[in-house]
Amino acid sequence: MCEQKVRDMPMIGRLFGQNGKTQEAHVDEQGRRAVIDIRNITKVYKMGDIEVHALRGVSLQIYEGEFISIMGPSGSGKSTLMNVLGALDQPSSGEFFLDGVDVSKLNERDLARIRNKKIGFVFQSFNLLKRTTALRQVELPLIYGGTARRTERAKQALEAVGLERRLDHLPSELSGGQQQRVAIARALVNEPAIILADEPTGNLDSRSGTEVMQIFQDLNRNRGITTVFVTHDPWIARHTNRVIMLRDGVIVADRQVETPLIAGEVERPSEAEELEGIFRDVYYSGTEDEYN
Ligand SMILES: Nc1ncnc2c1ncn2[C@@H]1O[C@H](COP(=O)(O)OP(=O)(O)OP(=O)(O)O)[C@@H](O)[C@H]1O
Ligand SMILES: [Mg+2]
Repeated sequence: MCEQKVRDMPMIGRLFGQNGKTQEAHVDEQGRRAVIDIRNITKVYKMGDIEVHALRGVSLQIYEGEFISIMGPSGSGKSTLMNVLGALDQPSSGEFFLDGVDVSKLNERDLARIRNKKIGFVFQSFNLLKRTTALRQVELPLIYGGTARRTERAKQALEAVGLERRLDHLPSELSGGQQQRVAIARALVNEPAIILADEPTGNLDSRSGTEVMQIFQDLNRNRGITTVFVTHDPWIARHTNRVIMLRDGVIVADRQVETPLIAGEVERPSEAEELEGIFRDVYYSGTEDEYN
């Protein structure tokens, strides 16, 4: 049936030290450095007497320059994992190295600092301020960070997402795809090591979704920005280089996409074809019997 293409996880070259100090980041066999390295992460939400085990032991290395999609059914722990990866939420147990720094040992202030510097977030619902122009939205993270040349850098980020002619527009004066591009520019402006996006195309029609994919693909290919995003859409996932599947709080598949699609180049197939081909091949890759 479906060819098994699950990637073997690379061997760990260097083990972590004893006392949670900065380590040299793990390097894979191609010489790529792990920007994110998590080991056996769990997350338990406590609600009164009830415990929800959202992550049940997730280990994952994300290397610089990777372009990854995370898929899985609703409630499988995708957003929980993204919040942990983005240091927005501490895991209940496990180890987490961000760019070689053991962040599970940091206090809230240091965590916030490292987060602002190293991670850019993009959300499904854009999270833009209503009465604020595109330029100002993108400048804001620089103001919090006390950065110089703020306007110039915000303009450059908006230019990178093709919005140099929309600087003074409010969100209500932009299309959904353009609003999401403002959010991407805002995530980009601090030059983070990694961009994390939780269903960035979830609220967009397919044309705007393609536009947003083009931006992510361009940033990844031409600027080498490591990108991880959550999607429910196997067609979107087919544009990334690696697909990770979660179910019930564990990774059930992790595979490379052999020839990622170029956004906007190939017409989206009809639903029937899509379900026949891509869905089976990508969404259920390698662990088909798990889903039957
Ligand atoms: N703040 C919270 N408090 C309690 N339980 C939570 C909390 N956030 C998530 N959960 C639970 O943890 C599990 C994983 O949720 P999560 O939001 O990570 O799923 P998801 O894969 O992102 O789903 P979706 O595709 O619907 O966005 C779910 O069972 C959810 O109900
Ligand atoms: Mg979610």
